[in-house]
Amino acid sequence: MTNPLILGIETSCDETGIGIVRGTELLADTLASSVEEHARFGGVVPEVASRAHVEAMIPTIKKSVAAAGINLNQIDAIAVTSGPGLAGALVVGVAAAKALGVALNKPVYGVNHLASHVAVDTLENGKLPEPTLALLVSGGHSSLLKVNNINYEIESLGKTLDDAAGEAFDKIARVMGLGFPGGPAVDNEAKNGNNNAIKFPRGLTQAEDWRTRPFDFSFSGLKTAVARYLESTPQYKRADVAASFQEAIVDVLLQKSLAACKTTGIESLVIAGGVAANSRLRQLAEQRCADAGIRLRIPSPILCTDNGAMVAALGSLMSSAGRAPSAIDFSATSSLAVTSVSV
Ligand code: KG4
Ligand code: ZN
Repeated sequence: MTNPLILGIETSCDETGIGIVRGTELLADTLASSVEEHARFGGVVPEVASRAHVEAMIPTIKKSVAAAGINLNQIDAIAVTSGPGLAGALVVGVAAAKALGVALNKPVYGVNHLASHVAVDTLENGKLPEPTLALLVSGGHSSLLKVNNINYEIESLGKTLDDAAGEAFDKIARVMGLGFPGGPAVDNEAKNGNNNAIKFPRGLTQAEDWRTRPFDFSFSGLKTAVARYLESTPQYKRADVAASFQEAIVDVLLQKSLAACKTTGIESLVIAGGVAANSRLRQLAEQRCADAGIRLRIPSPILCTDNGAMVAALGSLMSSAGRAPSAIDFSATSSLAVTSVSV
């Protein structure tokens, strides 16, 4: 189908996202977030998130449909995140998608949240080069991917052995008293600090690591180093710690991404996921990719963090490519592998 009208539903974590796209044109991207309900716990509470999705689902769909200026009957298909994510939260989105699918007699695509983060880039920058490398950095995942075809063929080149990049931002923000979610808070604080004030470790960048696991990440050593520094330096400058910590993460993410480009000979890199909203990552990626002759694509910050448009974008690519929708009995899979683009 050409230029299908797709409604996307995202409920993998704490954002109820409803997006509507026609082809690669973004018509609406509506969010209801339960982030404030989690802030005092310093992390997302699954049960609270699930309940919030139930309450937000219908009002958010209505808002999005109104914003897009369409009628629900006009949509060609529904796309929904089937995983990975919080099990109870995913189930709410999947149930809503199936109910809509049955009521409107429209096909439903159960799609991968991680592939959706990459697919959203097509709404702003058009068709993805094939293959392209993708650095996927979110609160739950950090991976280097070889995307042969965003609809059905993604290979994993490497991933984090411990914390995800976003998780590291969130944990460090917590120990520095910067609140939750930590990524935007550290990003902000770092603007007043010196990137090179403190030399924090770059995980898995020893010669042996480059030989044995060149495209994997590890952030636990960095986390420990920052915690030790804070303990041993009572008069620390928070902005300098934030900036130096951020620099260590961003540096290693880009070192590995560019090494992957070099090894595979692929000259195109997409950076996606919540951490791709980071201003220093965006800035340094631009510099280093320009120097290395790599074409860089990063979605606008608002499309990097979880949203419904990204799910609609992947559904639209699948529908346009004539891929079959999911069987009606598909389920939410909290540990869905990054290589399973759809279910
Ligand atoms: O993709 P996402 O919205 O949700 C998941 O799929 O996990 O990513 C959320 C993560 C959080 O850890 C958040 O702290 C981080 O992305 N994040 C950032 C920034 N904005 C969001 N990290 C660094 N700098 C930012 N500006
Ligand atoms: Zn995400």
